[in-house]
Amino acid sequence: MKAGAPPGRRAAETASTLAGGEDLALALDRDDPLAVLRAEFAIPPWPGGRYPELAYFAGNSLGLMPLAAREAVEEELEHWAQLALDGHFGGPRPWVPYQELMRETSARLVGARVGETVCMNTLTVNLHLLMATFYRPTAERFRIVIEDAAFPSDSYAVASQAVHHGVDPSRAVVRLRPREGKDTLRTEDVVAFLEREGASVALVLLGAVNYLTGQLMDLPEITAAARAAGAVAGWDLAHAAGNVPLSLHDWDVDWAAWCSYKYLNGGPGAVGGAFIHERHARDVSLPRLAGWWGNDLAGRFRMQPEFVPRPDVESWQVSNPPILSLAPVRVSLELFDRVGMTALRERSLRLTGYLEKLLDDAAGEIAAEVVTPRDPSARGCQLSLRVPSGAKELAARLRAEEGVVCDEREPNIVRLAPVPLYSSFHDVWRAVEGLRRLATAS
Ligand SMILES: Cc1ncc(COP(=O)(O)O)c(C=O)c1O
Repeated sequence: MKAGAPPGRRAAETASTLAGGEDLALALDRDDPLAVLRAEFAIPPWPGGRYPELAYFAGNSLGLMPLAAREAVEEELEHWAQLALDGHFGGPRPWVPYQELMRETSARLVGARVGETVCMNTLTVNLHLLMATFYRPTAERFRIVIEDAAFPSDSYAVASQAVHHGVDPSRAVVRLRPREGKDTLRTEDVVAFLEREGASVALVLLGAVNYLTGQLMDLPEITAAARAAGAVAGWDLAHAAGNVPLSLHDWDVDWAAWCSYKYLNGGPGAVGGAFIHERHARDVSLPRLAGWWGNDLAGRFRMQPEFVPRPDVESWQVSNPPILSLAPVRVSLELFDRVGMTALRERSLRLTGYLEKLLDDAAGEIAAEVVTPRDPSARGCQLSLRVPSGAKELAARLRAEEGVVCDEREPNIVRLAPVPLYSSFHDVWRAVEGLRRLATAS
């Protein structure tokens, strides 16, 4: 075993040819002040494997569990057991205003002001709730612009919104495609489209980081172009929140929505979030789908038939929230707040840069092409690889034979996301070494 190698590691069967090899990866971890954050997460074990733990690269799909999540959920179970109904207004963290515990941390996470973010529902539900307010098609302005490689749920959501308003979705939904032979969109092409066709566009709804390619869009520029065209700029932050620094307020984004089970490590099906710029959030006259939880707290329990929205984003809440699902989101947001997105992004750039370097070094052995932009400012932590075929089989072999967990999108994309809160340089080395070993063994 090499000095400093994790306990339980058995000798690799083939010698690594990767730059600096395993020793460099271990040294990078030793010299990294943020490597300690890993200890705050449950890293899944690899029973019987060459290393005691899996090397986990699927945080873009489901983030790992912060250890604090268990205690946070158990505390609420205990409050339920001890306080029952009184837990709504009593105990250390009353459930009725529980969402307020995340007002500041969620705002800081996405670069918003307090009163512009709320933790509620799940992502597609939030897209619909926000489109109920912000997609108001007219005869002239009725189109919704998405990217061709949009996540399917977004495609269904926008098409169904068009139908809901009596607009033919094949006329309403515009899918922006990359240039011939390219994988990712160019900002200038999106802007040019909006300058050309903007008068017919009601809403631009793009993924801030595309789920498939890992491309980080130019949010400020596209937002400005959408607004200059008279359209509303909404963003799907599923792969951006907790992955890249955001300044939604300053960028003048109209609205955004995200889920919390990926980079935010809130747990399977966790409560997501929404942002509405205060110039809209304060406007109580905006149409919305109302429910009692959007009613002003002072009046919520008077059981009056009138809806009196608070002058902030919390009035878009509809139902009372699932506290057992919010508790892990609360502690996870506190962790992000403690570390800060600037420090996490800095570590993320180093981890992903290292992954890219190792992949390039092994290019002669691994038949995989990076489809994510090579410019670090145009991507988050994820690198998507195009493999000749059999992405599913490759991911399964990586998991079984190398203890490396990534995810795949058939037929030919494998996604690897080194997550700065818990991934190590050694994990990254294992991923590329695993790919190399599988390629040279077959
Ligand atoms: C980009 C994007 N949009 C929407 C969704 C759907 O999220 P939900 O199931 O919370 O509605 C996902 C889920 O992975 C996603 O990645």
